[in-house]
Amino acid sequence: MPIVNLTINNKKIQAQSGQTVLQAAKEAGINIPVLCHHPALPPAGACRICLVEIEKQRSLQPACTFPVSEGLVIQTHSPKVQEARKFSLELLLSDHPLDCMTCNVTGNCVLQDLAYEYNAKGERYKGIQHRYPVDTSNPFIQVDRNKCVLCGLCIRACKYANGVEAIGLVHRGFSAHIGFGADSTMQDSPCEFCGSCVEVCPVGALMPKMSLGKGRDWQVKKVRTTCSYCGVGCQLMLEVKDNQIIKVDSVWDGPSNHGWTCVKGRFGYDYVNHPDRVTKPKVRRYLLDGGPKTKNESASSAPITDSNPWDWVETDWETALTITANKLRETRDTYGGDSIGVLTSAKCTNEENFLMNKLARQVIGTNNIDHCARL
Ligand code: SF4
Ligand code: SF4
Ligand code: SF4
Ligand code: FES
Repeated sequence: MPIVNLTINNKKIQAQSGQTVLQAAKEAGINIPVLCHHPALPPAGACRICLVEIEKQRSLQPACTFPVSEGLVIQTHSPKVQEARKFSLELLLSDHPLDCMTCNVTGNCVLQDLAYEYNAKGERYKGIQHRYPVDTSNPFIQVDRNKCVLCGLCIRACKYANGVEAIGLVHRGFSAHIGFGADSTMQDSPCEFCGSCVEVCPVGALMPKMSLGKGRDWQVKKVRTTCSYCGVGCQLMLEVKDNQIIKVDSVWDGPSNHGWTCVKGRFGYDYVNHPDRVTKPKVRRYLLDGGPKTKNESASSAPITDSNPWDWVETDWETALTITANKLRETRDTYGGDSIGVLTSAKCTNEENFLMNKLARQVIGTNNIDHCARL
């Protein structure tokens, strides 16, 4: 890529031809505020918050879409630029509920931060305000169009990250709003519940239901982890409060998912603290009582008593593993290794699956081993 020379805020920098002013400024350590831009998605130039002053240009230009070229001279925070940003923000706030004190994303809202930085109030332009009903039809995501700033990031995430195109911009002018499917509810659209739109929404318009009212951004502990659901190994950032997972955020440098996830990785966390979750090994009671039961005695023929020998009872790992090993050995020695089959899991690591392979072929002596991903 050819290199071009330009000047931003009186600082001479170099950039690669094809980059935008925003990209070049970022690489030079110069911050230009954005609202409708996300580095993982194509730019749209929708919000006009990133406007900058470029010499020889008749009007201010959006840095997120304006390409660099040789000799550009740019001011990112001139009085004219700052006034234009404040104007755009005040127009947005004129049709935005100013309820930051109870809003779920307070402290983690781009619009709130920008309004504070540019001292933009919601009082300058009075007029009609939208009062959309909140769409709670989707089991995982709440849609509050009243808070939407029409940045289009959700539309681009759904299209370019997930390839679904469940969201679009419907109607025009003051009536424009995000619509799902044929302007239906989110639940009745082709949405696959991946949550990519939620991740990129800069305000509180799209919210994970699991997070509503559970805690502020500064009240949570953030824990980076690997998704436990499948072998792709998506990197996630869990938000934890009071030992409960209340939100899952993207990790943009995750090598296998680059920030995106499926529905399970994003929303499937109620099992972690669920009371039905098995957290200790369990064995049939008769195995602890010195069994075995006779070969023909079935569970249905067992007497129903307080201490039914077929009940599952909790034990410690040492006991459970010893019983399992003894039973496998007994079965192999009596009926041969091929009487045993082993199924492994995509939820395990590669190393764990490799060890099961060794156990099946070399210890038990069977090639009857398969993996849940093939079933
Ligand atoms: S979305 Fe942001 S600006 Fe709007 S009410 Fe919530 S915190 Fe405030
Ligand atoms: S959850 Fe995923 S599929 Fe559904 S609208 Fe959002 S980005 Fe599109
Ligand atoms: S819902 Fe959020 S991401 Fe989508 S257009 Fe509105 S503000 Fe932007
Ligand atoms: S960030 Fe450039 S126009 Fe919105």
